[in-house]
Amino acid sequence: MTAMAMSRSLMMALAGMVLVLGLAMLAGDARAQAPNQTDPTLQTAPVDGGVPGGTLGLSSDAEMWRAVRQGVTGTVSIPDQNAALLVQSEGDNWRAIRNGPIKVYGAYALGGIVALLVLFFLIRGRIRIDHGKAGVTITRFNTIERAGHWLLAVSFILLALTGLNLLYGKFILMPVIGKEAFTAVSMAGKYIHNYVAFAFMAGLALTLVMWFVHNLPSRTDIVWLLKGGGVLIKGVHPPAKKFNAGQKMIFWLVILGGFSLSLSGWALLFPFTTTAFADTFAVINSIAGTNLPTDLTPIQEQQYNQLWHNIMSVFMICVIIAHIYIGSVGMEGAFDAMGTGEVDLNWAKEHHSLWVEKVQAKDAARPGGSPQPAE
Ligand code: HEM
Repeated sequence: MTAMAMSRSLMMALAGMVLVLGLAMLAGDARAQAPNQTDPTLQTAPVDGGVPGGTLGLSSDAEMWRAVRQGVTGTVSIPDQNAALLVQSEGDNWRAIRNGPIKVYGAYALGGIVALLVLFFLIRGRIRIDHGKAGVTITRFNTIERAGHWLLAVSFILLALTGLNLLYGKFILMPVIGKEAFTAVSMAGKYIHNYVAFAFMAGLALTLVMWFVHNLPSRTDIVWLLKGGGVLIKGVHPPAKKFNAGQKMIFWLVILGGFSLSLSGWALLFPFTTTAFADTFAVINSIAGTNLPTDLTPIQEQQYNQLWHNIMSVFMICVIIAHIYIGSVGMEGAFDAMGTGEVDLNWAKEHHSLWVEKVQAKDAARPGGSPQPAE
């Protein structure tokens, strides 16, 4: 091999080595930059349920989160095992429903009933005693009946005002009286609400015992209802016993609605002691074939109770606003029945003719014929 040929081979070998080294370096560099598929912190795409960036994501500890959200009995050493529940996901739904539809539709309902009554007053005016006052009275309710009514009425009104403060006070009262005064008012309201509830339940029981018999449905109710109670047209007075069909409806709404309010309120006063909703759902499922949840956690029971208490209270307040209207400004002579207990005879004849006949017949049959309290 000539010297010339040798140096050409050497040059080519050197160039080859440079090329191989260069390629090797490039390959090494590329390998260094490529994602390491086994290291989750270096992933750029999900692999086997793992999420890029090394966060837990889909591969989080399901068992741990289940325990956090559902609470596992035995994981806390204090008696209240509910403390094992750290995050209650359904609480979000409860809050959204309470602060959303309940507040909004509740306000519509309350505003709506007031608007309807104003409209009714503008169209119909005050329902007058068509024959004018007789100047003679008849005893409509005795002292016990009136005491029972006012126990129920005053307690309900206190519960309604303090309850509405919890729902709307932040928007209506707080801007007017300021945050500190609102706190004091709301705290006092909470105590009033909690204790007056028992007076309400007593009033409810008394009302049921006093007036149950008088509020059983009768045939006269059908005639009364067909004639619209005589409320819509002047001069129309369908016969009625001690209570007419409209009053019977109010009575049963008060008794059943008041009972439901009392039950749900009791569950709120003594949390985690009742299973009324799970039990009710089970009954509904067995009757209607529905699939309502019956395995409610104690806190879900509380949430259902709280929502139901809200819905029922707004409904009952609407009913009672209408009752207060007709028992005061809406009808001439009505308030006396619960004020003094004595009503004008013509009022009584127009609104409760069958009851007047009965009382007068009883009076006539008595020796001396002196007036008797109504039955
Ligand atoms: C300022 C408020 C109230 C006034 C002025 C009022 C007025 C009256 C009057 C005048 C009667 C007798 C009607 C008649 O002689 O036939 C009555 C009955 C009655 N009240 Fe009240 N009331 C008030 C609040 C309440 C409340 C808050 C409740 C229940 C939560 C209630 C429940 C009843 C019931 C169940 C009856 C018997 C059925 C009926 O007449 O509708 N009242 N009320």
